[in-house]
Amino acid sequence: MSESIFRKDATAQGVAKQRLIETLAEPEERIINDPYADRFLLGASFIKFMGHKLNVWLAQKLVPGFHEHLISRTRFIDDLVKKNSASGVEQYIILGAGYDSRAHRLELPSSLRIFEVDQPEVQARKRSKLPEELSNSENMTYVAVDFTHQSLTEQLMNAGFDQNKSTVFTLEGVSQYITKVIKIKGKINPSMMEEITNIQSLFENLKTL
Ligand SMILES: C[S@@+](CC[C@H](N)C(=O)[O-])C[C@H]1O[C@@H](n2cnc3c(N)ncnc32)[C@H](O)[C@@H]1O
Repeated sequence: MSESIFRKDATAQGVAKQRLIETLAEPEERIINDPYADRFLLGASFIKFMGHKLNVWLAQKLVPGFHEHLISRTRFIDDLVKKNSASGVEQYIILGAGYDSRAHRLELPSSLRIFEVDQPEVQARKRSKLPEELSNSENMTYVAVDFTHQSLTEQLMNAGFDQNKSTVFTLEGVSQYITKVIKIKGKINPSMMEEITNIQSLFENLKTL
């Protein structure tokens, strides 16, 4: 591995930290619940020791709005996925899933086929930290893809994705890192650019729904 896992998964850890902080709130007050977030975090015990209120207070002092922004984004997508799957959507593709365990932490219909996509190293670490017995595991497929040099379409098709089935795609806090990597490395994989364009137009179309 040329790059340390802790550099590759730093952003995934950052979001998982905010989910853990929110999960520490009283059940009737929290916006989201992620019972798995602590498994991925370095320093999770200390965050738990500090508790919800102190962590939120500190986050507001250091980066005002950061915690609230990430948590409301996650809740918005949780609700969108629940609503669409309840109305019969057949597949859900989580692009850059990181350490979110939406497939397991939400109550989703068993008919929904879920594909989690992320970089191989991040996905391998995630899998090593999750318990073996998880709800919805039988409907979930991990698809290891590095967007900068692998074809998303090809990897998804190999994993059993069916282009003819109704599908929800989510890209939560990911696109900013992809373009940065492409710019920094100075190499643009043409098929990746085409896929990014397709994903962008997909989201533009969704906005009009
Ligand atoms: C800020 S995290 C968001 C994770 C998750 N969506 C969440 O909300 O918790 C960004 C994610 O994008 C993934 N990512 C970044 N660059 C990637 C690439 N080139 N290929 C695949 N995944 C990538 C990272 O591994 C990380 O999991």
